[in-house]
Amino acid sequence: MTTITNPQTLSTVVNSLAESETLAMTKKARELASQGNKVISLSVGEPDFKTPQHVMDAAKKAIDEGYHSYSPVAGFADLRAAIAEKLVKENNIKVTAENIVVSTGAKQSLANVIQAIVDKGQEVIILAPYWVSYSEMVKLAEGKSVILTGTIENDFKVTAAEIEKAITSKTRAIMYSSPCNPSGSVYTEKELREIGALLQKNPQIVAIADEIYEYINFEGKNFSLGSIDEIKDQVVTVNGFSKGFAMTGWRLGYIAAPKYIAAATEKLQGQVTSGTCSITQRAGLAALQGDLSAPLKMKEAYLRRRDLIIGLLKEIPGLKINKPAGAFYIFPDVSAYLGKSVNGQVIKTSSDLSMFILNDVFVSTVGGDSFGSPNNIRISFAASDENIIEAIKRIKECLAKLK
Ligand SMILES: Cc1ncc(COP(=O)(O)O)c(C=O)c1O
Repeated sequence: MTTITNPQTLSTVVNSLAESETLAMTKKARELASQGNKVISLSVGEPDFKTPQHVMDAAKKAIDEGYHSYSPVAGFADLRAAIAEKLVKENNIKVTAENIVVSTGAKQSLANVIQAIVDKGQEVIILAPYWVSYSEMVKLAEGKSVILTGTIENDFKVTAAEIEKAITSKTRAIMYSSPCNPSGSVYTEKELREIGALLQKNPQIVAIADEIYEYINFEGKNFSLGSIDEIKDQVVTVNGFSKGFAMTGWRLGYIAAPKYIAAATEKLQGQVTSGTCSITQRAGLAALQGDLSAPLKMKEAYLRRRDLIIGLLKEIPGLKINKPAGAFYIFPDVSAYLGKSVNGQVIKTSSDLSMFILNDVFVSTVGGDSFGSPNNIRISFAASDENIIEAIKRIKECLAKLK
């Protein structure tokens, strides 16, 4: 038994966690702004639009109608049914309300699933670049992340053949986001069917398909891995309202999972947080029952801004640029600037570069290190045209100082 000599001792697992780099950059940007600096924040993963009016109205109505009590742990029955209906209709995923568990954001949904299925020492293959929290969630479950990284030359994608090589007897899950945070890449139906075939050969592996940016797809309709019948009992689809409906602060996400996983996450959630906010759930139901004109309008704005930012970034010497097919991030390769110096300070990593840009010209971005891609930085284009133009002008001036 360990003797505790310091009363402020923390658990080993929590000590091993990294702070979320995106939240850290955003915190630093807020600090600089509070000191009177004209900060432009392109680090946060958040739509710059308001939640649609009919969704806000539904929340107000829910308060007046008395939705004040604990809700069922897995979510209100009508909301779960509406989510299942959406998945059948829009994604061709054959589920019913019993497969759905609603949580406090897709972040909790993902953490629940990993905690529910990954045992100590088991491996989770993460397709990188990946969302910062995936590897930390695996750490919390005492699992081991196996990171496979797609390069900018391959549109940041990992192939089924590469995944196959990484599978071992300990592999429990594969996880990815498509559209991807941070690269904006979208796995095509063909690519996902190849991954599906691999899963069929390996029935012990569960795929966690994070589709939270589904509505921000510039090239057509998103293909869902969970729609492939042969592997439907091996796929957990994760989605939520934060990005498509501009509802980040409402905290509403969900999974569609095989029943044994849904039941396990419900049990876990019942011991940790219970059902998510009842008012938020009524708002989410209104979002699903309304039309999709609001997400569509936002997508059109993001598309215009994507093209704007690509044009501006192309003017900066040395950057390699991808063309994101979805989400609202661009992930340029900045390796030409790594190892360079300014005022005696060497910029060793992409996180150093992001921090230098923030301190020098007050534009916040996020270094690619924490997304598993150390040569890149993530820039969000969920910002006004004016801010995008000004921010990229500042970044260009700032990078020119590096020698
Ligand atoms: C890829 C991805 N998955 C999940 C989430 C979590 O979303 P939320 O918890 O707001 O529903 C995010 C948020 O940034 C994300 O980028």
